[in-house]
Amino acid sequence: MLSENIRWVGVHDHEIDLFEGQYEVPSGMSYHSWVILDEQVCVMDTVDRRFSGEYLGKVADALGDRTPDYLVVSHVEPDHASSVQAFLDRWPDVTLVGNAKTFQMLENYFVLGETKRRVVKEGDTLPLGSHTLRFVLAPMVHWPEVMMSYEESEKLLFSADAFGQFGAADVMPAWDDDEARRYYLNIVGKYGPQVQGVLKKAAGLAIDAILPLHGPQTLTDAIPHALEKYQIWASYAVEDEGVLVAYASLHGNTAAAAEKLADLLDQKGCPDVVLADLARVDMAEALACAFRYGKVVLCASTYNAGIMPFMEDFLHHLKAKNWQKRTVGLVENGSWAPMAAKGMRELLGGMKEITVIEPQVTIKGAPKTSDLPALEALAESLLQA
Ligand code: FEO
Repeated sequence: MLSENIRWVGVHDHEIDLFEGQYEVPSGMSYHSWVILDEQVCVMDTVDRRFSGEYLGKVADALGDRTPDYLVVSHVEPDHASSVQAFLDRWPDVTLVGNAKTFQMLENYFVLGETKRRVVKEGDTLPLGSHTLRFVLAPMVHWPEVMMSYEESEKLLFSADAFGQFGAADVMPAWDDDEARRYYLNIVGKYGPQVQGVLKKAAGLAIDAILPLHGPQTLTDAIPHALEKYQIWASYAVEDEGVLVAYASLHGNTAAAAEKLADLLDQKGCPDVVLADLARVDMAEALACAFRYGKVVLCASTYNAGIMPFMEDFLHHLKAKNWQKRTVGLVENGSWAPMAAKGMRELLGGMKEITVIEPQVTIKGAPKTSDLPALEALAESLLQA
């Protein structure tokens, strides 16, 4: 448990429809901020500026008759730092704490002018009284200036975006594998090596609680589980046995082939089969599923002598997030000149360690009884891969 000298002053956002302008967040988002009341008063991050008024009121309540000495900026992205200007307007004598990149990037958003600054490096400390912050740089988790802060007396890791999740903490107060996975892989998935580097640094710290900027306010009992998941996700390892069958279909025929393949996999004892209509599911969820399992089948109609656009979009998303080390089956459809598999192979060719297994299945129009042997053979190959 945190001592009573560390107060949560974050906000829950249930107005947002798309986080970062792209990710569905039906349970909202939280932006966490904390006040550490000691001989020196330190505030950890701000919140999205749409909540500046509510936020500053909470900070003022936590401060009582005191004023903040420091404002630590762990991450400049506007969901956390866009209230820095409002904070400075209210408490102009505060000293901003960040690394060299923090200040370079803050000046892209604000005119800092004569604002007091404390520039810190890896391992530097900020004594506050009985509490001391030690800074742990975490570049590209998720921007280059990101840093974490380790509070030595209570063994707390303020982890910035890491260990966050989609969903506001007032309705999702605990770690949730599905929303933590969808969040991590879509937001930070590309930067696995950098996340692994930070996990190595964290392994050297005794941590009683993790305080991320999103998701649960604190992680305590869930820490070993969360660390295990991050090791898997950051190394692009397979999380669960199963197959994602993702399809993009114009008139339902490619969908029917995908459904048949999913049935065959299920009947043959595949531990988990997830069917995803890429035109209708949340693309971020489909992407998270592609990382979760070791095997993915891509089923696409031919369109304009290429790939049905939803599948092409999906493959671009996978490439952008550094998807790798997976086994892929291909099913294409085309009434007169099937071309989707060729296009999918080309896009997969730009990814690392992707094995396309045989047979490639080609359907012309509606799937027929004569297509069953090929679908059966693909299902067998997937189960044996
Ligand atoms: Fe929650 Fe990368 O900002």
